[in-house]
Amino acid sequence: MLKVEKIRKGTVIDHIPVGRSLQVLKILRISSDPGVTVSIAIHVRSKKMGLKDVVKIEDRILDSSELNKIALVAEGATISIVEDYEVVKKFRVKIPDIITGIVKCNNARCVTNSESAVIPSFTLVSKNPLAIRCHYCESEMEGREIEENILHKFRERSYPFIHSGL
Ligand code: CTP
Ligand code: ZN
Repeated sequence: MLKVEKIRKGTVIDHIPVGRSLQVLKILRISSDPGVTVSIAIHVRSKKMGLKDVVKIEDRILDSSELNKIALVAEGATISIVEDYEVVKKFRVKIPDIITGIVKCNNARCVTNSESAVIPSFTLVSKNPLAIRCHYCESEMEGREIEENILHKFRERSYPFIHSGL
């Protein structure tokens, strides 16, 4: 049975691990943007994964920073781009090997926290369990800590150079 209507145009984030759609909405800053129509299905039965969440955003395409954040908090999610009711592109989000400009280093003494010109950058150490290491101070951060950081601490506007060619 169809729980949420098909969309005409926009992005479907499917196969979100169950209970994680709220994190996805936060990443997309849905609450602060009244101009978008969003459908959310929580605890949907799925053949492949038991239960899952699904988020559909009309008239919007996600940028690479949003896709990388979703990969970090909702591993395995698939993105379908819809035009004229048809899926024209479909892919699975992937955690990049180098994570730049989406997580803030937890080490208060790290250069990325004192110099706003230095954009935080991490190497992926392990996917499962999730662990990343800072390029600059070598501090490691793990799953839950990374998620909290993406949702609550990282502020893109603190880094004036972040949109230049990254
Ligand atoms: N979808 C949508 N609106 C459309 C077309 C597709 O909301 N006009 C959604 C579907 O509900 C599904 C996702 O986009 O959540 C992918 O669509 P499709 O590839 O047709 O679905 P499935 O084959 O069921 O996907 P999968 O095998 O990835 O579960
Ligand atoms: Zn650091």
